[in-house]
Amino acid sequence: MNKYTYCLYNGKRPVSWVSAILLVLALVFSGAGLAEVPNAVPPEGEHKGDDVPQPIHFPHDTHAKINEINCMYCHTYARRSKVAGIPPTSKCMGCHSVIATDSDRIKKLTEYWEKNESPPWKKVHDVPDYVHFTHEKHMKRFLFDNEDMEVERVSEVCAFCHGEVKDMEVANKVKPLNMGFCQRCHEANGGPSDCWACHK
Ligand code: HEC
Ligand code: HEC
Ligand code: HEC
Ligand code: HEC
Ligand code: HEC
Repeated sequence: MNKYTYCLYNGKRPVSWVSAILLVLALVFSGAGLAEVPNAVPPEGEHKGDDVPQPIHFPHDTHAKINEINCMYCHTYARRSKVAGIPPTSKCMGCHSVIATDSDRIKKLTEYWEKNESPPWKKVHDVPDYVHFTHEKHMKRFLFDNEDMEVERVSEVCAFCHGEVKDMEVANKVKPLNMGFCQRCHEANGGPSDCWACHK
C-alpha cells in the first residue's frame, strides 16, 4: 500500500471512488502549481526546439529548482535592459570554487576560468535583427509594476516566453516567439499593436 492508498483508507470506511479520483486530481494539480500570474493573459503557442549542444552541460533544474537560485540572480539584466544576459564565469566560481569541485563539468568550468575565458555558450533563443524586443518592458508590466504579484515568482513571468526553465535540465526553446505569438499576447494584454513597436 503506498501512502496515497493509505490516506484513502485510514477513515472508518473507504471513500467513494468519485472522491478518491477528485482527491488524486487535487494532489496532481496542487503539485503542478496552478496559481496564475495575476493581471495577465498567458500567451498561447508551443514549439519543439532541438537540443542545443553547450560547451558545458548546465543543469537549470539543479540551480533554479533544487537550490532555488532566483533567475535574476544569474540573468541580472532582465529587469533593466533589452537583454537578460548570461552570467560571467566569476559568478559561477563564487560557488564552484568550493561546490562540486570533483565533478568533470566543474573541472572544465574551472579551466575556462583559469584561462580567463567564458564558456562559449550557444544561443537558444534568437529573434531576427529586424525585430525589436526588450526584456525590461515586459518584466515591469508583468512583475515589478504588477501589484498583485510577488517578485519571488519571477520564473512564472519568464515562463511566458521560455517555458518552465527551472524544470529543464538544459535550456531549450519551447515557445514559438514568432510574430503571431507576440502579437496575440499584445492584443490580449494591451501591448502595442503598431508595426513600429516591434520593427524599428
Ligand atoms: C549560488 C551557488 C551557485 C552558483 C552561483 C552556480 N552554481 Fe552550479 N551548482 C550549485 C550547486 C549547489 C550544485 C549542485 C552540486 C551537487 O549536486 O553536488 C551545482 C551544480 C552544478 C553543475 C553540475 C555538477 C555535476 O557534475 O554534478 C554544473 C555543471 C554547474 N553547477 C555549473 C554552473 C555554472 C556554469 C554556473 C555559472 C553560470 C554555476 N554553476 C553557478 C551552486 C551554484
Ligand atoms: C546559476 C545561474 C543560473 C540561474 C539561477 C538561471 N540560469 Fe538561465 N542560464 C544560465 C546559463 C549559464 C545559461 C547558458 C547555458 C544554456 O543556455 O543552457 C542559461 C541560459 C538560459 C536561457 C537560454 C538563453 C538563450 O541562449 O536563449 C534561458 C531562457 C534561461 N537561462 C532562463 C532562466 C530562467 C527562467 C531561470 C529561472 C527559472 C534561470 N535561467 C536561472 C545560468 C542560470
Ligand atoms: C515577453 C517574452 C519574454 C519574457 C517574459 C522573457 N524573455 Fe527572455 N527572451 C525573449 C526573447 C524574444 C529573447 C531573444 C532575444 C533576441 O534574440 O534578441 C530572449 C532571450 C533571453 C536570453 C538569452 C540572452 C539574452 O539576453 O538575449 C536569456 C538568458 C533570457 N531571455 C532569460 C530570461 C529570463 C531569466 C526571464 C525572466 C526574468 C525572461 N527571459 C523573460 C523573450 C522573453
Ligand atoms: C505575455 C504577453 C507578451 C508577450 C508574449 C510579448 N509581449 Fe511585448 N509587451 C506586452 C505588453 C503588455 C507590453 C506593454 C508593456 C507596457 O507598456 O507596460 C509589451 C511591450 C512590448 C514592447 C515595448 C513597446 C514600447 O515601445 O514601449 C516591445 C518592443 C515588445 N513588447 C515586443 C515584443 C516582441 C517582439 C515579442 C515576441 C518575441 C513580445 N513583445 C512578446 C506583452 C507581451
Ligand atoms: C508584437 C511584436 C510585433 C508586431 C506588433 C509586428 N511584428 Fe512583424 N514580426 C515580429 C516578429 C517576432 C517577427 C519574426 C518572426 C520569425 O522569427 O519568424 C516578425 C516578422 C515580420 C516580417 C518578416 C516576414 C515574416 O513574416 O516572417 C514582416 C514582413 C513583418 N514582421 C511585418 C510586420 C508588419 C507589417 C506589422 C504591422 C502590421 C508587424 N510586423 C507587426 C513581431 C511583430
